[in-house]
Amino acid sequence: MSSTNALNSRYPTMWHGGDTNPEQWGPETWEEDMRLMKVAGFKVPTLGVFSWVSLEPAEGRYNFEWLDRYIELITENDGWFILATPSAAPPAWMAKKYPEILRVGSDGVRRRHGNRVNYNLASPVYLQKTREMAAILAERYGNHERLLSWHVSNEYGDADYSDESEAQFRTWLHDRFDGDLDKLNKAYWTPFWGHTYTDWDQIEIPGARHGEGAIMGLSLDWLRFVSWQTKEFFLNEANELRRISPHVPVTTNLMGPYEPLDYSVLAPHVDYVSYDSYPGISSIPLDESTWSSAGFRHDVMRGLKPDRPWLLMECTPGISNWGSPSQLMRPGVLFYEGLQAIAHGSDGVLYFQWRQSRGSTEMYHSAVVGHNGKAEARTFKEVAEIGAHLPTVNALVGTTVPSEIALIHDWEARWALKLCPGPTMDGKGYIDSVTGWYEAIRRLGLPMDVVPASADLSRYKVVVAPQLNLLSPGTIASLRAFVEGGGELVLTYLSGYVDETAKVFEGGYLAPLQDVFGLWIEDIDALYPSQSNGVRFEAGREFAAKDFCEIIHPTSAKVLATYTDQFYAGTPAITENSFGKGTATYVAARIDLEGEIEVLQPVLERSKVRRFTREILPAGVSVHVRSDSKAEHVIYLNASPEPQTITTLEHGTITIPPFKQVLRTKNLA
Ligand code: GLA
Repeated sequence: MSSTNALNSRYPTMWHGGDTNPEQWGPETWEEDMRLMKVAGFKVPTLGVFSWVSLEPAEGRYNFEWLDRYIELITENDGWFILATPSAAPPAWMAKKYPEILRVGSDGVRRRHGNRVNYNLASPVYLQKTREMAAILAERYGNHERLLSWHVSNEYGDADYSDESEAQFRTWLHDRFDGDLDKLNKAYWTPFWGHTYTDWDQIEIPGARHGEGAIMGLSLDWLRFVSWQTKEFFLNEANELRRISPHVPVTTNLMGPYEPLDYSVLAPHVDYVSYDSYPGISSIPLDESTWSSAGFRHDVMRGLKPDRPWLLMECTPGISNWGSPSQLMRPGVLFYEGLQAIAHGSDGVLYFQWRQSRGSTEMYHSAVVGHNGKAEARTFKEVAEIGAHLPTVNALVGTTVPSEIALIHDWEARWALKLCPGPTMDGKGYIDSVTGWYEAIRRLGLPMDVVPASADLSRYKVVVAPQLNLLSPGTIASLRAFVEGGGELVLTYLSGYVDETAKVFEGGYLAPLQDVFGLWIEDIDALYPSQSNGVRFEAGREFAAKDFCEIIHPTSAKVLATYTDQFYAGTPAITENSFGKGTATYVAARIDLEGEIEVLQPVLERSKVRRFTREILPAGVSVHVRSDSKAEHVIYLNASPEPQTITTLEHGTITIPPFKQVLRTKNLA
């Protein structure tokens, strides 16, 4: 255990707890809460997430009694707590008195009170109110010996289209383009359709109020701005908390690869990454593929700070009532969910929520304590099983996941693809493509980091970058240096089309990396869903290709596979090029999982990454490592309802029971 790298070194233990709202009930339930928390091993309640009106029922009139008393009870019962700032839900009195604190939608209409995350991110009044509330909470509780962490706000999301935000956006653009409007016009290629701006005041939020949404560069900058603005909104509170209680770690609960916010902008400002995982909100029953994509999301989150543990801040102990349908979680699955988070680097398992709300929007959302109130209920017992298990894996606390492979998931590339008016107006399937490669690497039994393109790539042996559509100068330099220095880079179709301003590179697609890959790209063919293609490797093996097929011309690259169909049958589809000490592999078409595995095998051989098995694992089985200087823990996980037997290179043949793990620890000290 590395206690210095624990989420909070004062409690270097796996955290078990979650959102707890004593203010929804009277003190009569609180003693029962304490009794049940002991039974469940639920030691870390998160308090105050939506509690503003309970803390400040009228402007300037505060009521901390309930919170003081609940914290006292927790402390008497040897518990700890996380405290949230309540900024996610402004109280009704505030919205009435200062309507400008409420969010304006893209329709230009100001929201009314009643929802959450419905605040104006640029409202001077709301910024002042949230700052003051953070300071008041920090003064009162910041030095409490049992306070483990600050939880700032809750699940930032979407954008605000108020006049204040629009003005802030203009100022942000003014700074970005050094006050030079001509530079902005050139960057956005505005003469197209005669969109040239002649005054900063003419710039509006793209797409808002039926306005201009056609300038890709502007739309991309708006998304960048919203991420920046959200980070500023976070810091407005976090700075106060840190000023008053500098020893308490600060986090905010993120939402995995949530498209509208580039979390890599926020991540440097949190002490550790925490996030909320709800794989059950899906149109298909939970199965092995669910847990592959949950694993992907865990790794996206961990990749924001790969040298730190992260925290599963929320998951549902049963159903989330947002599904259609919201099916009960099958027996044993919750235990797997907890094991999986820890295998991916979480130092705890927290839930939404402790006690099921009797009314309102989430009254059917599961809780540790259901409407039945019984410790005999299955959900409660499954939570208690995790509560009993966690202390047995405290040796993993503070350890990290050593990965030799990076898979790139990049918000800017994703946005560029989304905004891109071709080669199909539909989605380009970015997440499907990245999770497809994720599954291929997982099936090969390898742990990986999922990182944004701006990450330090020099620490990896293999980098896989699907659809890296936008390349910043920094990314171009880092990819070149990576291959030159001996790295194995795998890049796919739709990569390197545009620069940071969303303009196609002069010299064509992939222009800045054409020498690295030893090829140039003539065009991209988009297939109808009813059409298909295939790729044939030299040795004769064939794999299906669909959706996108680029027509490419090797200059120095060696051809590994050619197309089987369409008018470009027989031309190169997959190539490999030596560049410096490394190799750059290019996959010009969307190929299937087996094809991806075929591409990866020689890459892994050349790179000499540590292998854990030579098998291609069955769906749902995965291999993980957590380590520090003292010990290494290899974890074999099984997300399927059947036992799975695999042959490993280091631990012989092992059988992993359904929804369980086999953990092998080696002392290094
Ligand atoms: C989110 C929120 C919680 C709750 C859960 C339930 O993660 O943070 O407040 O609404 O979803 O789905």
